[in-house]
Amino acid sequence: MKESIFFKIFGHYLLMISVFSFLQIPAQNKNSRERIKIREGWKFMKYESMPDSLIYDERDILKFHNDNIVADTKAEIEAKEKGSKNALKAWVLPTANDFIKDKSKHYTRPENNPVSDFPLLSSDYDDTKWENITIPHDWAIKKNFYEGDPAEVGGGMGRLPIHGVAWYRNKLIIPKSDQGKKIYLEIDGAMSYAIIWLNGKLVGGWPYGYSSFRLDLTPFVNYGKENQLSIRIDNPNYSSRWYTGGGIYRNVWLVKTNNINIDQYGTFIKSSNVTKKSANIDVEIKLRNHSNKDQKISVETSIYLFNKKLSKIAQMPSSLAIIKANGQLKINNSISVKNPKLWGVPPTQEPNLYKAITKVFQNKKEIDSYETTFGIRDLKFDPLKGIILNGESIRIKGVNQHHDLGALGAAFNIRAAERQLEILKEMGVNAIRMAHNPPAPELLDLTDKMGFMVINEIFDSWKKGKTPNDYHLIFSDWYEADTRAFVRRDKNHPSVIAWSFGNEVGEQYTDKEGAAIAKNLNDIVKEEDSTRPTTASMNYAKPDMPFPATMDFISLNYQGEGIRNAPAYSHLKGIRTKPLYPDFKEKFPNKLIVSSETASTLSTRGSYCFPVTKEYSAPVSNAVGYDDTTLEVSDYGLYTAQFGASPDKVFDTQDHHPYVAGEFVWSGFDYLGEPTPYYSARSSYSGIIDLAGFKKDRFYQYQARWRPDFPMVHILPHWNWPDRIGKITPIHIFTSGDEVELFVNGKSYGKKKKDKYEYRLRWDDIIYQSGEVTAVAYKNGKKWAEETVKTTGEGFGIKLIADRTKINADGDDLAFITVKIVDKNGCVIPNANNKISFSIDSNAEIVATDNGNPADLISFASHTRNAFSGLALVIIKSKKNQKGSIKLTAKSDGLETSTLTIESF
Ligand code: GAL
Repeated sequence: MKESIFFKIFGHYLLMISVFSFLQIPAQNKNSRERIKIREGWKFMKYESMPDSLIYDERDILKFHNDNIVADTKAEIEAKEKGSKNALKAWVLPTANDFIKDKSKHYTRPENNPVSDFPLLSSDYDDTKWENITIPHDWAIKKNFYEGDPAEVGGGMGRLPIHGVAWYRNKLIIPKSDQGKKIYLEIDGAMSYAIIWLNGKLVGGWPYGYSSFRLDLTPFVNYGKENQLSIRIDNPNYSSRWYTGGGIYRNVWLVKTNNINIDQYGTFIKSSNVTKKSANIDVEIKLRNHSNKDQKISVETSIYLFNKKLSKIAQMPSSLAIIKANGQLKINNSISVKNPKLWGVPPTQEPNLYKAITKVFQNKKEIDSYETTFGIRDLKFDPLKGIILNGESIRIKGVNQHHDLGALGAAFNIRAAERQLEILKEMGVNAIRMAHNPPAPELLDLTDKMGFMVINEIFDSWKKGKTPNDYHLIFSDWYEADTRAFVRRDKNHPSVIAWSFGNEVGEQYTDKEGAAIAKNLNDIVKEEDSTRPTTASMNYAKPDMPFPATMDFISLNYQGEGIRNAPAYSHLKGIRTKPLYPDFKEKFPNKLIVSSETASTLSTRGSYCFPVTKEYSAPVSNAVGYDDTTLEVSDYGLYTAQFGASPDKVFDTQDHHPYVAGEFVWSGFDYLGEPTPYYSARSSYSGIIDLAGFKKDRFYQYQARWRPDFPMVHILPHWNWPDRIGKITPIHIFTSGDEVELFVNGKSYGKKKKDKYEYRLRWDDIIYQSGEVTAVAYKNGKKWAEETVKTTGEGFGIKLIADRTKINADGDDLAFITVKIVDKNGCVIPNANNKISFSIDSNAEIVATDNGNPADLISFASHTRNAFSGLALVIIKSKKNQKGSIKLTAKSDGLETSTLTIESF
């Protein structure tokens, strides 16, 4: 408001900027653009069995599909042509038009309005009995797990009812004063086949659940009245190899602009000639004129350094232009900036950000204002030195992450994502591969802010499906729109260093035909963004096949270390390769090579099985390393998926091939679904960190490698083995030092030094006796770190530890409470599994509990949870505007009751 007063008084925009440049965010002018989050007011209904007769496009009806398949199985399913008179596809497809380059291929909306008498579309429809929900929303996560086999939704998709059809309704009040404006609905992600109606008229939709999309509501709006918004979501079973979640699981926005506006994703900011002394900034702005008249406008962009506050550093010259009636216009501006604060990756660099604010004026009146956050950085992909960021060669210490947030499911929450990134950072991670789909936009804001490099990936399948209802059903109609929308949305994020247009797609197997699709996707990405390199991950394609030649750099899944090639894997069937780094290097000497998936080491946190393999990498299927009765895999970090390799084997291979740019481990966190090797479980075993966010032992193996200057030493296993007295119980140690002396009950078992290609120190012959184990680590002969693990006493109490003691009373913020079962001395009992009941006062709610055990099939919504390996997790959510103290109580039979108080403000 103040802004417009200043505007009127001084009539000069530049002055206004200088007055306000000390503010955190320059005042927003509501008249030029509004973006309103539609979080509340939603009604939700999911059909229990038979859904309504509407559908995007007819699908095959599947009775049962076995989802317990090895991840590197060859994809088989071919796309089938379908058609149905009930299908609404013809009204949905035009939503893709802005993302289809060839105008002759644009879709025309059929004249009529289909299913106009469908009752749920009417504002009179009585939805009072429907559930009240807020968005983001995941309809499945609070439900009960399906047990037994075959289950309606199997382990592969997480045993939760992600499937089915549901409706979301909301009433939008759009005032009379908005008449003449453009009114858009932006949906950051809806799982899946979203179809949207306003006031009974079908507006459009978007099938791919991971894409963000926008709909133009303008022709359907009743100004000055209530507008009935109805959204149908249809998420088929067997549509993925992991948990998708279900429903509108990311934010929804109402956007209002004037008739002349900056287009959706309408700015692209590139930096060039970047040095510490100066950088060129090129801003490309795309504008639209939705009116029937040519219009004279001026456009100007100001650049701010975006630290805790914004400080203006540059003003680009104003551009005067005429934008044609119903036309589009591109404006390019350039400026040179002195002493730029570069965006980089900690610990050696800082993730500095800038913000560009672009304003459009007509007759000196501001008619649009658009903010773009960006970074200035110089990025090179060097075939020998790997990633060179601002002149520094930086090894990729990466992990793969799926989109779910553990017990919170797919519903995006900033704090939950931030917590994941914080834990990864503690391990030394500097890069993330978004496996295998575009993330929530806010996740990329976090990676920008916290300084992670991101490979942004879009597809897990193309025309050849991996599961019966996956993307292959819509590939032909949607691949171009999805790919262009993906790049356009995320192209300004400095954290995004590369685009991946596929993961282990079936087209790797189809020679030239598959490579032609790869080339097409590659070309689309490059047309949208020529500044970043492209890739697609390969677990099968070999250097002499046409597939790898289509991309800018080589991303190998498991092939770099070799697949099923170590002695312990010799009995297995399936893809088998020797370590292929050298072959790819020879064939593509000018392309960077990275391992986009490594390891697939499997384990359950804090579980250990004996005997321990003497190998340095072994498949779980080798009858060692697991317990079939409890569905646990040993946490020694030596056991892998059939095609996988232990961290030790991966590090060894990478260190023998130093031109490899680094690795992305499969996976950073455990995720819902794909519970190899136990498909009767609910969540994966491949995370370095479990589903609850607790560290498995190999967390410290990665930390030792990735943070060599951080003094640490870690001992495994725990030392509570009453049944193992007198039995061999190997002790393994991870350290960032180079030498360790081990003591058991004060007796030294000698010092061991890490060899060049050794990444753990093993004492494999220790005979168990209760007491204490101490590891003293040395580096360059000097004491570096020490850790002691003790046999604990009986269970005595519960320790509650909050990740933050103050949370925001905004109805979104979370506190993650770690629950520890402890003995009298406060030591965690490493095998405790006590049942704990939690209660909370009225200032907040318990949204989920978990313990990180993939085989625990108690609903995440339960307020009672068994500890697992001594720990449990409670996730607390604030209530909107309810400020004050929040008290959590934890009770368990035989243990002292415990309480914890935090604040919401
Ligand atoms: C890979 C695949 C991932 C995941 C992983 C499991 O082959 O790309 O999506 O399935 O295996 O270990």
